[in-house]
Amino acid sequence: TSASAASAATASTLHNDRFLRALARQPVDRTPVWMMRQAGRYLPEYRAKRAEAGSFMDLCRNQDLACEVTLQPLERYPLDAAILFSDILTIPDAMDLGLYFVTGEGPKFKKTVRTPAEVEALKVPDAERDLDYVMRAVSTIRGELNGRVPLIGFSGSPWTLATYMVEGSSSKDFRHVKAMLYDTPDAMHQLLDKLAHSVTDYLNAQIRAGAQAVQIFDTWGGALSTPAYLEFSLRYMEQIVAGLIREHDGRRVPVIMFTKNGGQWLEQISAAGADGVGLDWSTELSDARQRVGHRVALQGNLDPNVLFARPSAIRAEVARVLESYGHGPGHVFNLGHGISQFTNPDNVTAFMDALNELSPQYHRD
Ligand code: CP3
Repeated sequence: TSASAASAATASTLHNDRFLRALARQPVDRTPVWMMRQAGRYLPEYRAKRAEAGSFMDLCRNQDLACEVTLQPLERYPLDAAILFSDILTIPDAMDLGLYFVTGEGPKFKKTVRTPAEVEALKVPDAERDLDYVMRAVSTIRGELNGRVPLIGFSGSPWTLATYMVEGSSSKDFRHVKAMLYDTPDAMHQLLDKLAHSVTDYLNAQIRAGAQAVQIFDTWGGALSTPAYLEFSLRYMEQIVAGLIREHDGRRVPVIMFTKNGGQWLEQISAAGADGVGLDWSTELSDARQRVGHRVALQGNLDPNVLFARPSAIRAEVARVLESYGHGPGHVFNLGHGISQFTNPDNVTAFMDALNELSPQYHRD
């Protein structure tokens, strides 16, 4: 069964540990790489599986299908990590807000959370029980990976989850969630505290099920003012990191914190206890490394829309990003945000080819 396969894999060796070594800022032979949203709609084999399964959440809820789509990008590309196929909105779904997806419009909730009474009524899910399908997917994927590369688990940050729960959908201006933050900061803190407890429990359950690293996606932290970011987003991510299992099965379980558009707060983010900090393309890696590279590994930061350009331009940008970080350990190559659904998979091949040809020179003495 998948559970016994997973425990067998747990005891076995990891054949490719570049990603974990880079996060520990240990030497590697080449720069490890994975892509945010690496499993998804830009892959025709993903679109075929989803059509067969019915919906996106049907894929997430079936451990064998979730496992299959997790592995799809690894069959095509020399990636150094797999990321669990799931979504950040599984937590609010488990809080009974009724998650659903409308094609072309993204995620929606049947219920929103806007008043102190609605915050009060919200239950903190028990991850092992209420999100058991996610844990089954994690252990199935670990078994199937069989030590090929490490598996990354993930969650949204409390603030990013709150934006979807309060707005009831994706948003451009965050009017409801910001009104709530300024009108009833106590209720907002109570909501974020419930979410922080939920996320901690959720990530620890993923780690126990076999996740070998975890990433916290703070997609919308960059929409806040500096004091609001520190008080309403970073503080709760720090609380989560302090509550995570940091060693499992004799290995460190690194944590990556990714605040999109958070470059101006790098000093504070890098002091919040994570092993790695994810960067979008608006922050220069050379600058980031000077500011915080002695404290954390850095992950990023190719503009995903570079993948719409021709292979020679992709190669030039990959070269520029590598040179910007420079020589030595501590760099995990990634996109600065999720890959677009309109990306041509052949352009990802050009990206991987360039990286594997150009990165080894940055790891020689
Ligand atoms: O990285 C991976 O390959 C793992 C899977 C993953 C998904 N979502 C699958 C998904 C991860 C890590 C996420 C995280 C996520 N989900 C974030 C944070 C990262 C980011 O991109 O900023 C956010 C904000 C969400 C919320 C979400 N889920 C949105 C806004 C959407 C719709 C918009 C979109 O891009 O489709 C989703 C749906 C979703 N999550 C899809 C996938 C593959 C598309 C579903 C489909 O139509 O098949």
